[in-house]
Amino acid sequence: MRLFTGSAVVTGAGSGIGRSIAHALATRGLGVVVADVELAAAEAVSSEIAAAGGRAIPNQVDVRDLAAMEAMADRAEAEFGPTSVLVNNAGVTLRPFRASWDTNYDDFRWMFDINWWGVVHGHAAFVPRMLAGSGDRHIVNTASTAAIHPFAGHSSYSASKAAVDGFTIAVRAELEAAAEGFGASVLFPGPIKTRITSSARLRPTAEAEASTSVKPWSDYTGDTRRSQLVETAHVDGELPHRASNPAEVIDADAVGGIVLNGIDRNQPYILTHPPHEDRITMRRDQLLSAEPR
Ligand SMILES: NC(=O)c1ccc[n+]([C@@H]2O[C@H](COP(=O)([O-])OP(=O)(O)OC[C@H]3O[C@@H](n4cnc5c(N)ncnc54)[C@H](O)[C@@H]3O)[C@@H](O)[C@H]2O)c1
Repeated sequence: MRLFTGSAVVTGAGSGIGRSIAHALATRGLGVVVADVELAAAEAVSSEIAAAGGRAIPNQVDVRDLAAMEAMADRAEAEFGPTSVLVNNAGVTLRPFRASWDTNYDDFRWMFDINWWGVVHGHAAFVPRMLAGSGDRHIVNTASTAAIHPFAGHSSYSASKAAVDGFTIAVRAELEAAAEGFGASVLFPGPIKTRITSSARLRPTAEAEASTSVKPWSDYTGDTRRSQLVETAHVDGELPHRASNPAEVIDADAVGGIVLNGIDRNQPYILTHPPHEDRITMRRDQLLSAEPR
């Protein structure tokens, strides 16, 4: 087990995956900054952590705002000491799924502003000061299995998460070369029961309306299975704790422990589900057989 001290900062911690990770980090004695654009959600999670005997503060922040991220880095250090764990997790998605040519410019911008630039802002605000510290340190950037095997109807999201994947693996190699005890992981969640499909609530109304009235991808394919699968991520009820296959929807509460374990082992990749072996093998085979002829 690695020894982390001081503060941990988790963006998008007011809900779902980030909430679960924040709880897990608090069990390790870290003071947790529960960062979210929705203040009430951050406050609720911070109170839950305190009620469970941990230390946490809510911090309203929009990851699109670099200055606000820098102010949060100051605050984390002032409240709990130097930051040793950073989790860039805030993210949004589009519903319904749609063809790339039906995805409007605002959709692409919004997606990348949060899913990609949010990670860059977290990196810029925290990593230089974490580098100046010492001891065990770690960053986790949340991508998606859509980064490993992008899928039709979700090109903008897949692209934003592929950027996070590529960035994190390059950063990991840099940290390995430059700093002792400083690791980095990319988190690839599979289907998790969270509020992600209601991301449109966070957009200006006119933009959200323009975005949701689009022709759904299923109109081209006649196949609604994929959307049905993801919609089931939001029904209430009993769910299994650990996924037994790549498509199984699991509860977000399972994710914090999985991530903490991945951090302790300094894994480059952290998976919440068994991998889509067939899709990974297909991509590997396509790459290995693509020598120039
Ligand atoms: N749920 C899944 O099935 C799934 C699968 C793969 C990847 N992911 C990724 O996991 C991460 C967490 O998502 P989740 O499923 O827990 O969703 P969620 O909607 O339950 O939680 C995301 C949180 O991020 C916050 N947020 C959104 N925009 C923000 C901004 N600009 N600044 C600060 N906070 C912001 C939201 O308010 C919300 O509390 C995302 O990056 C998502 O893309 C989720």
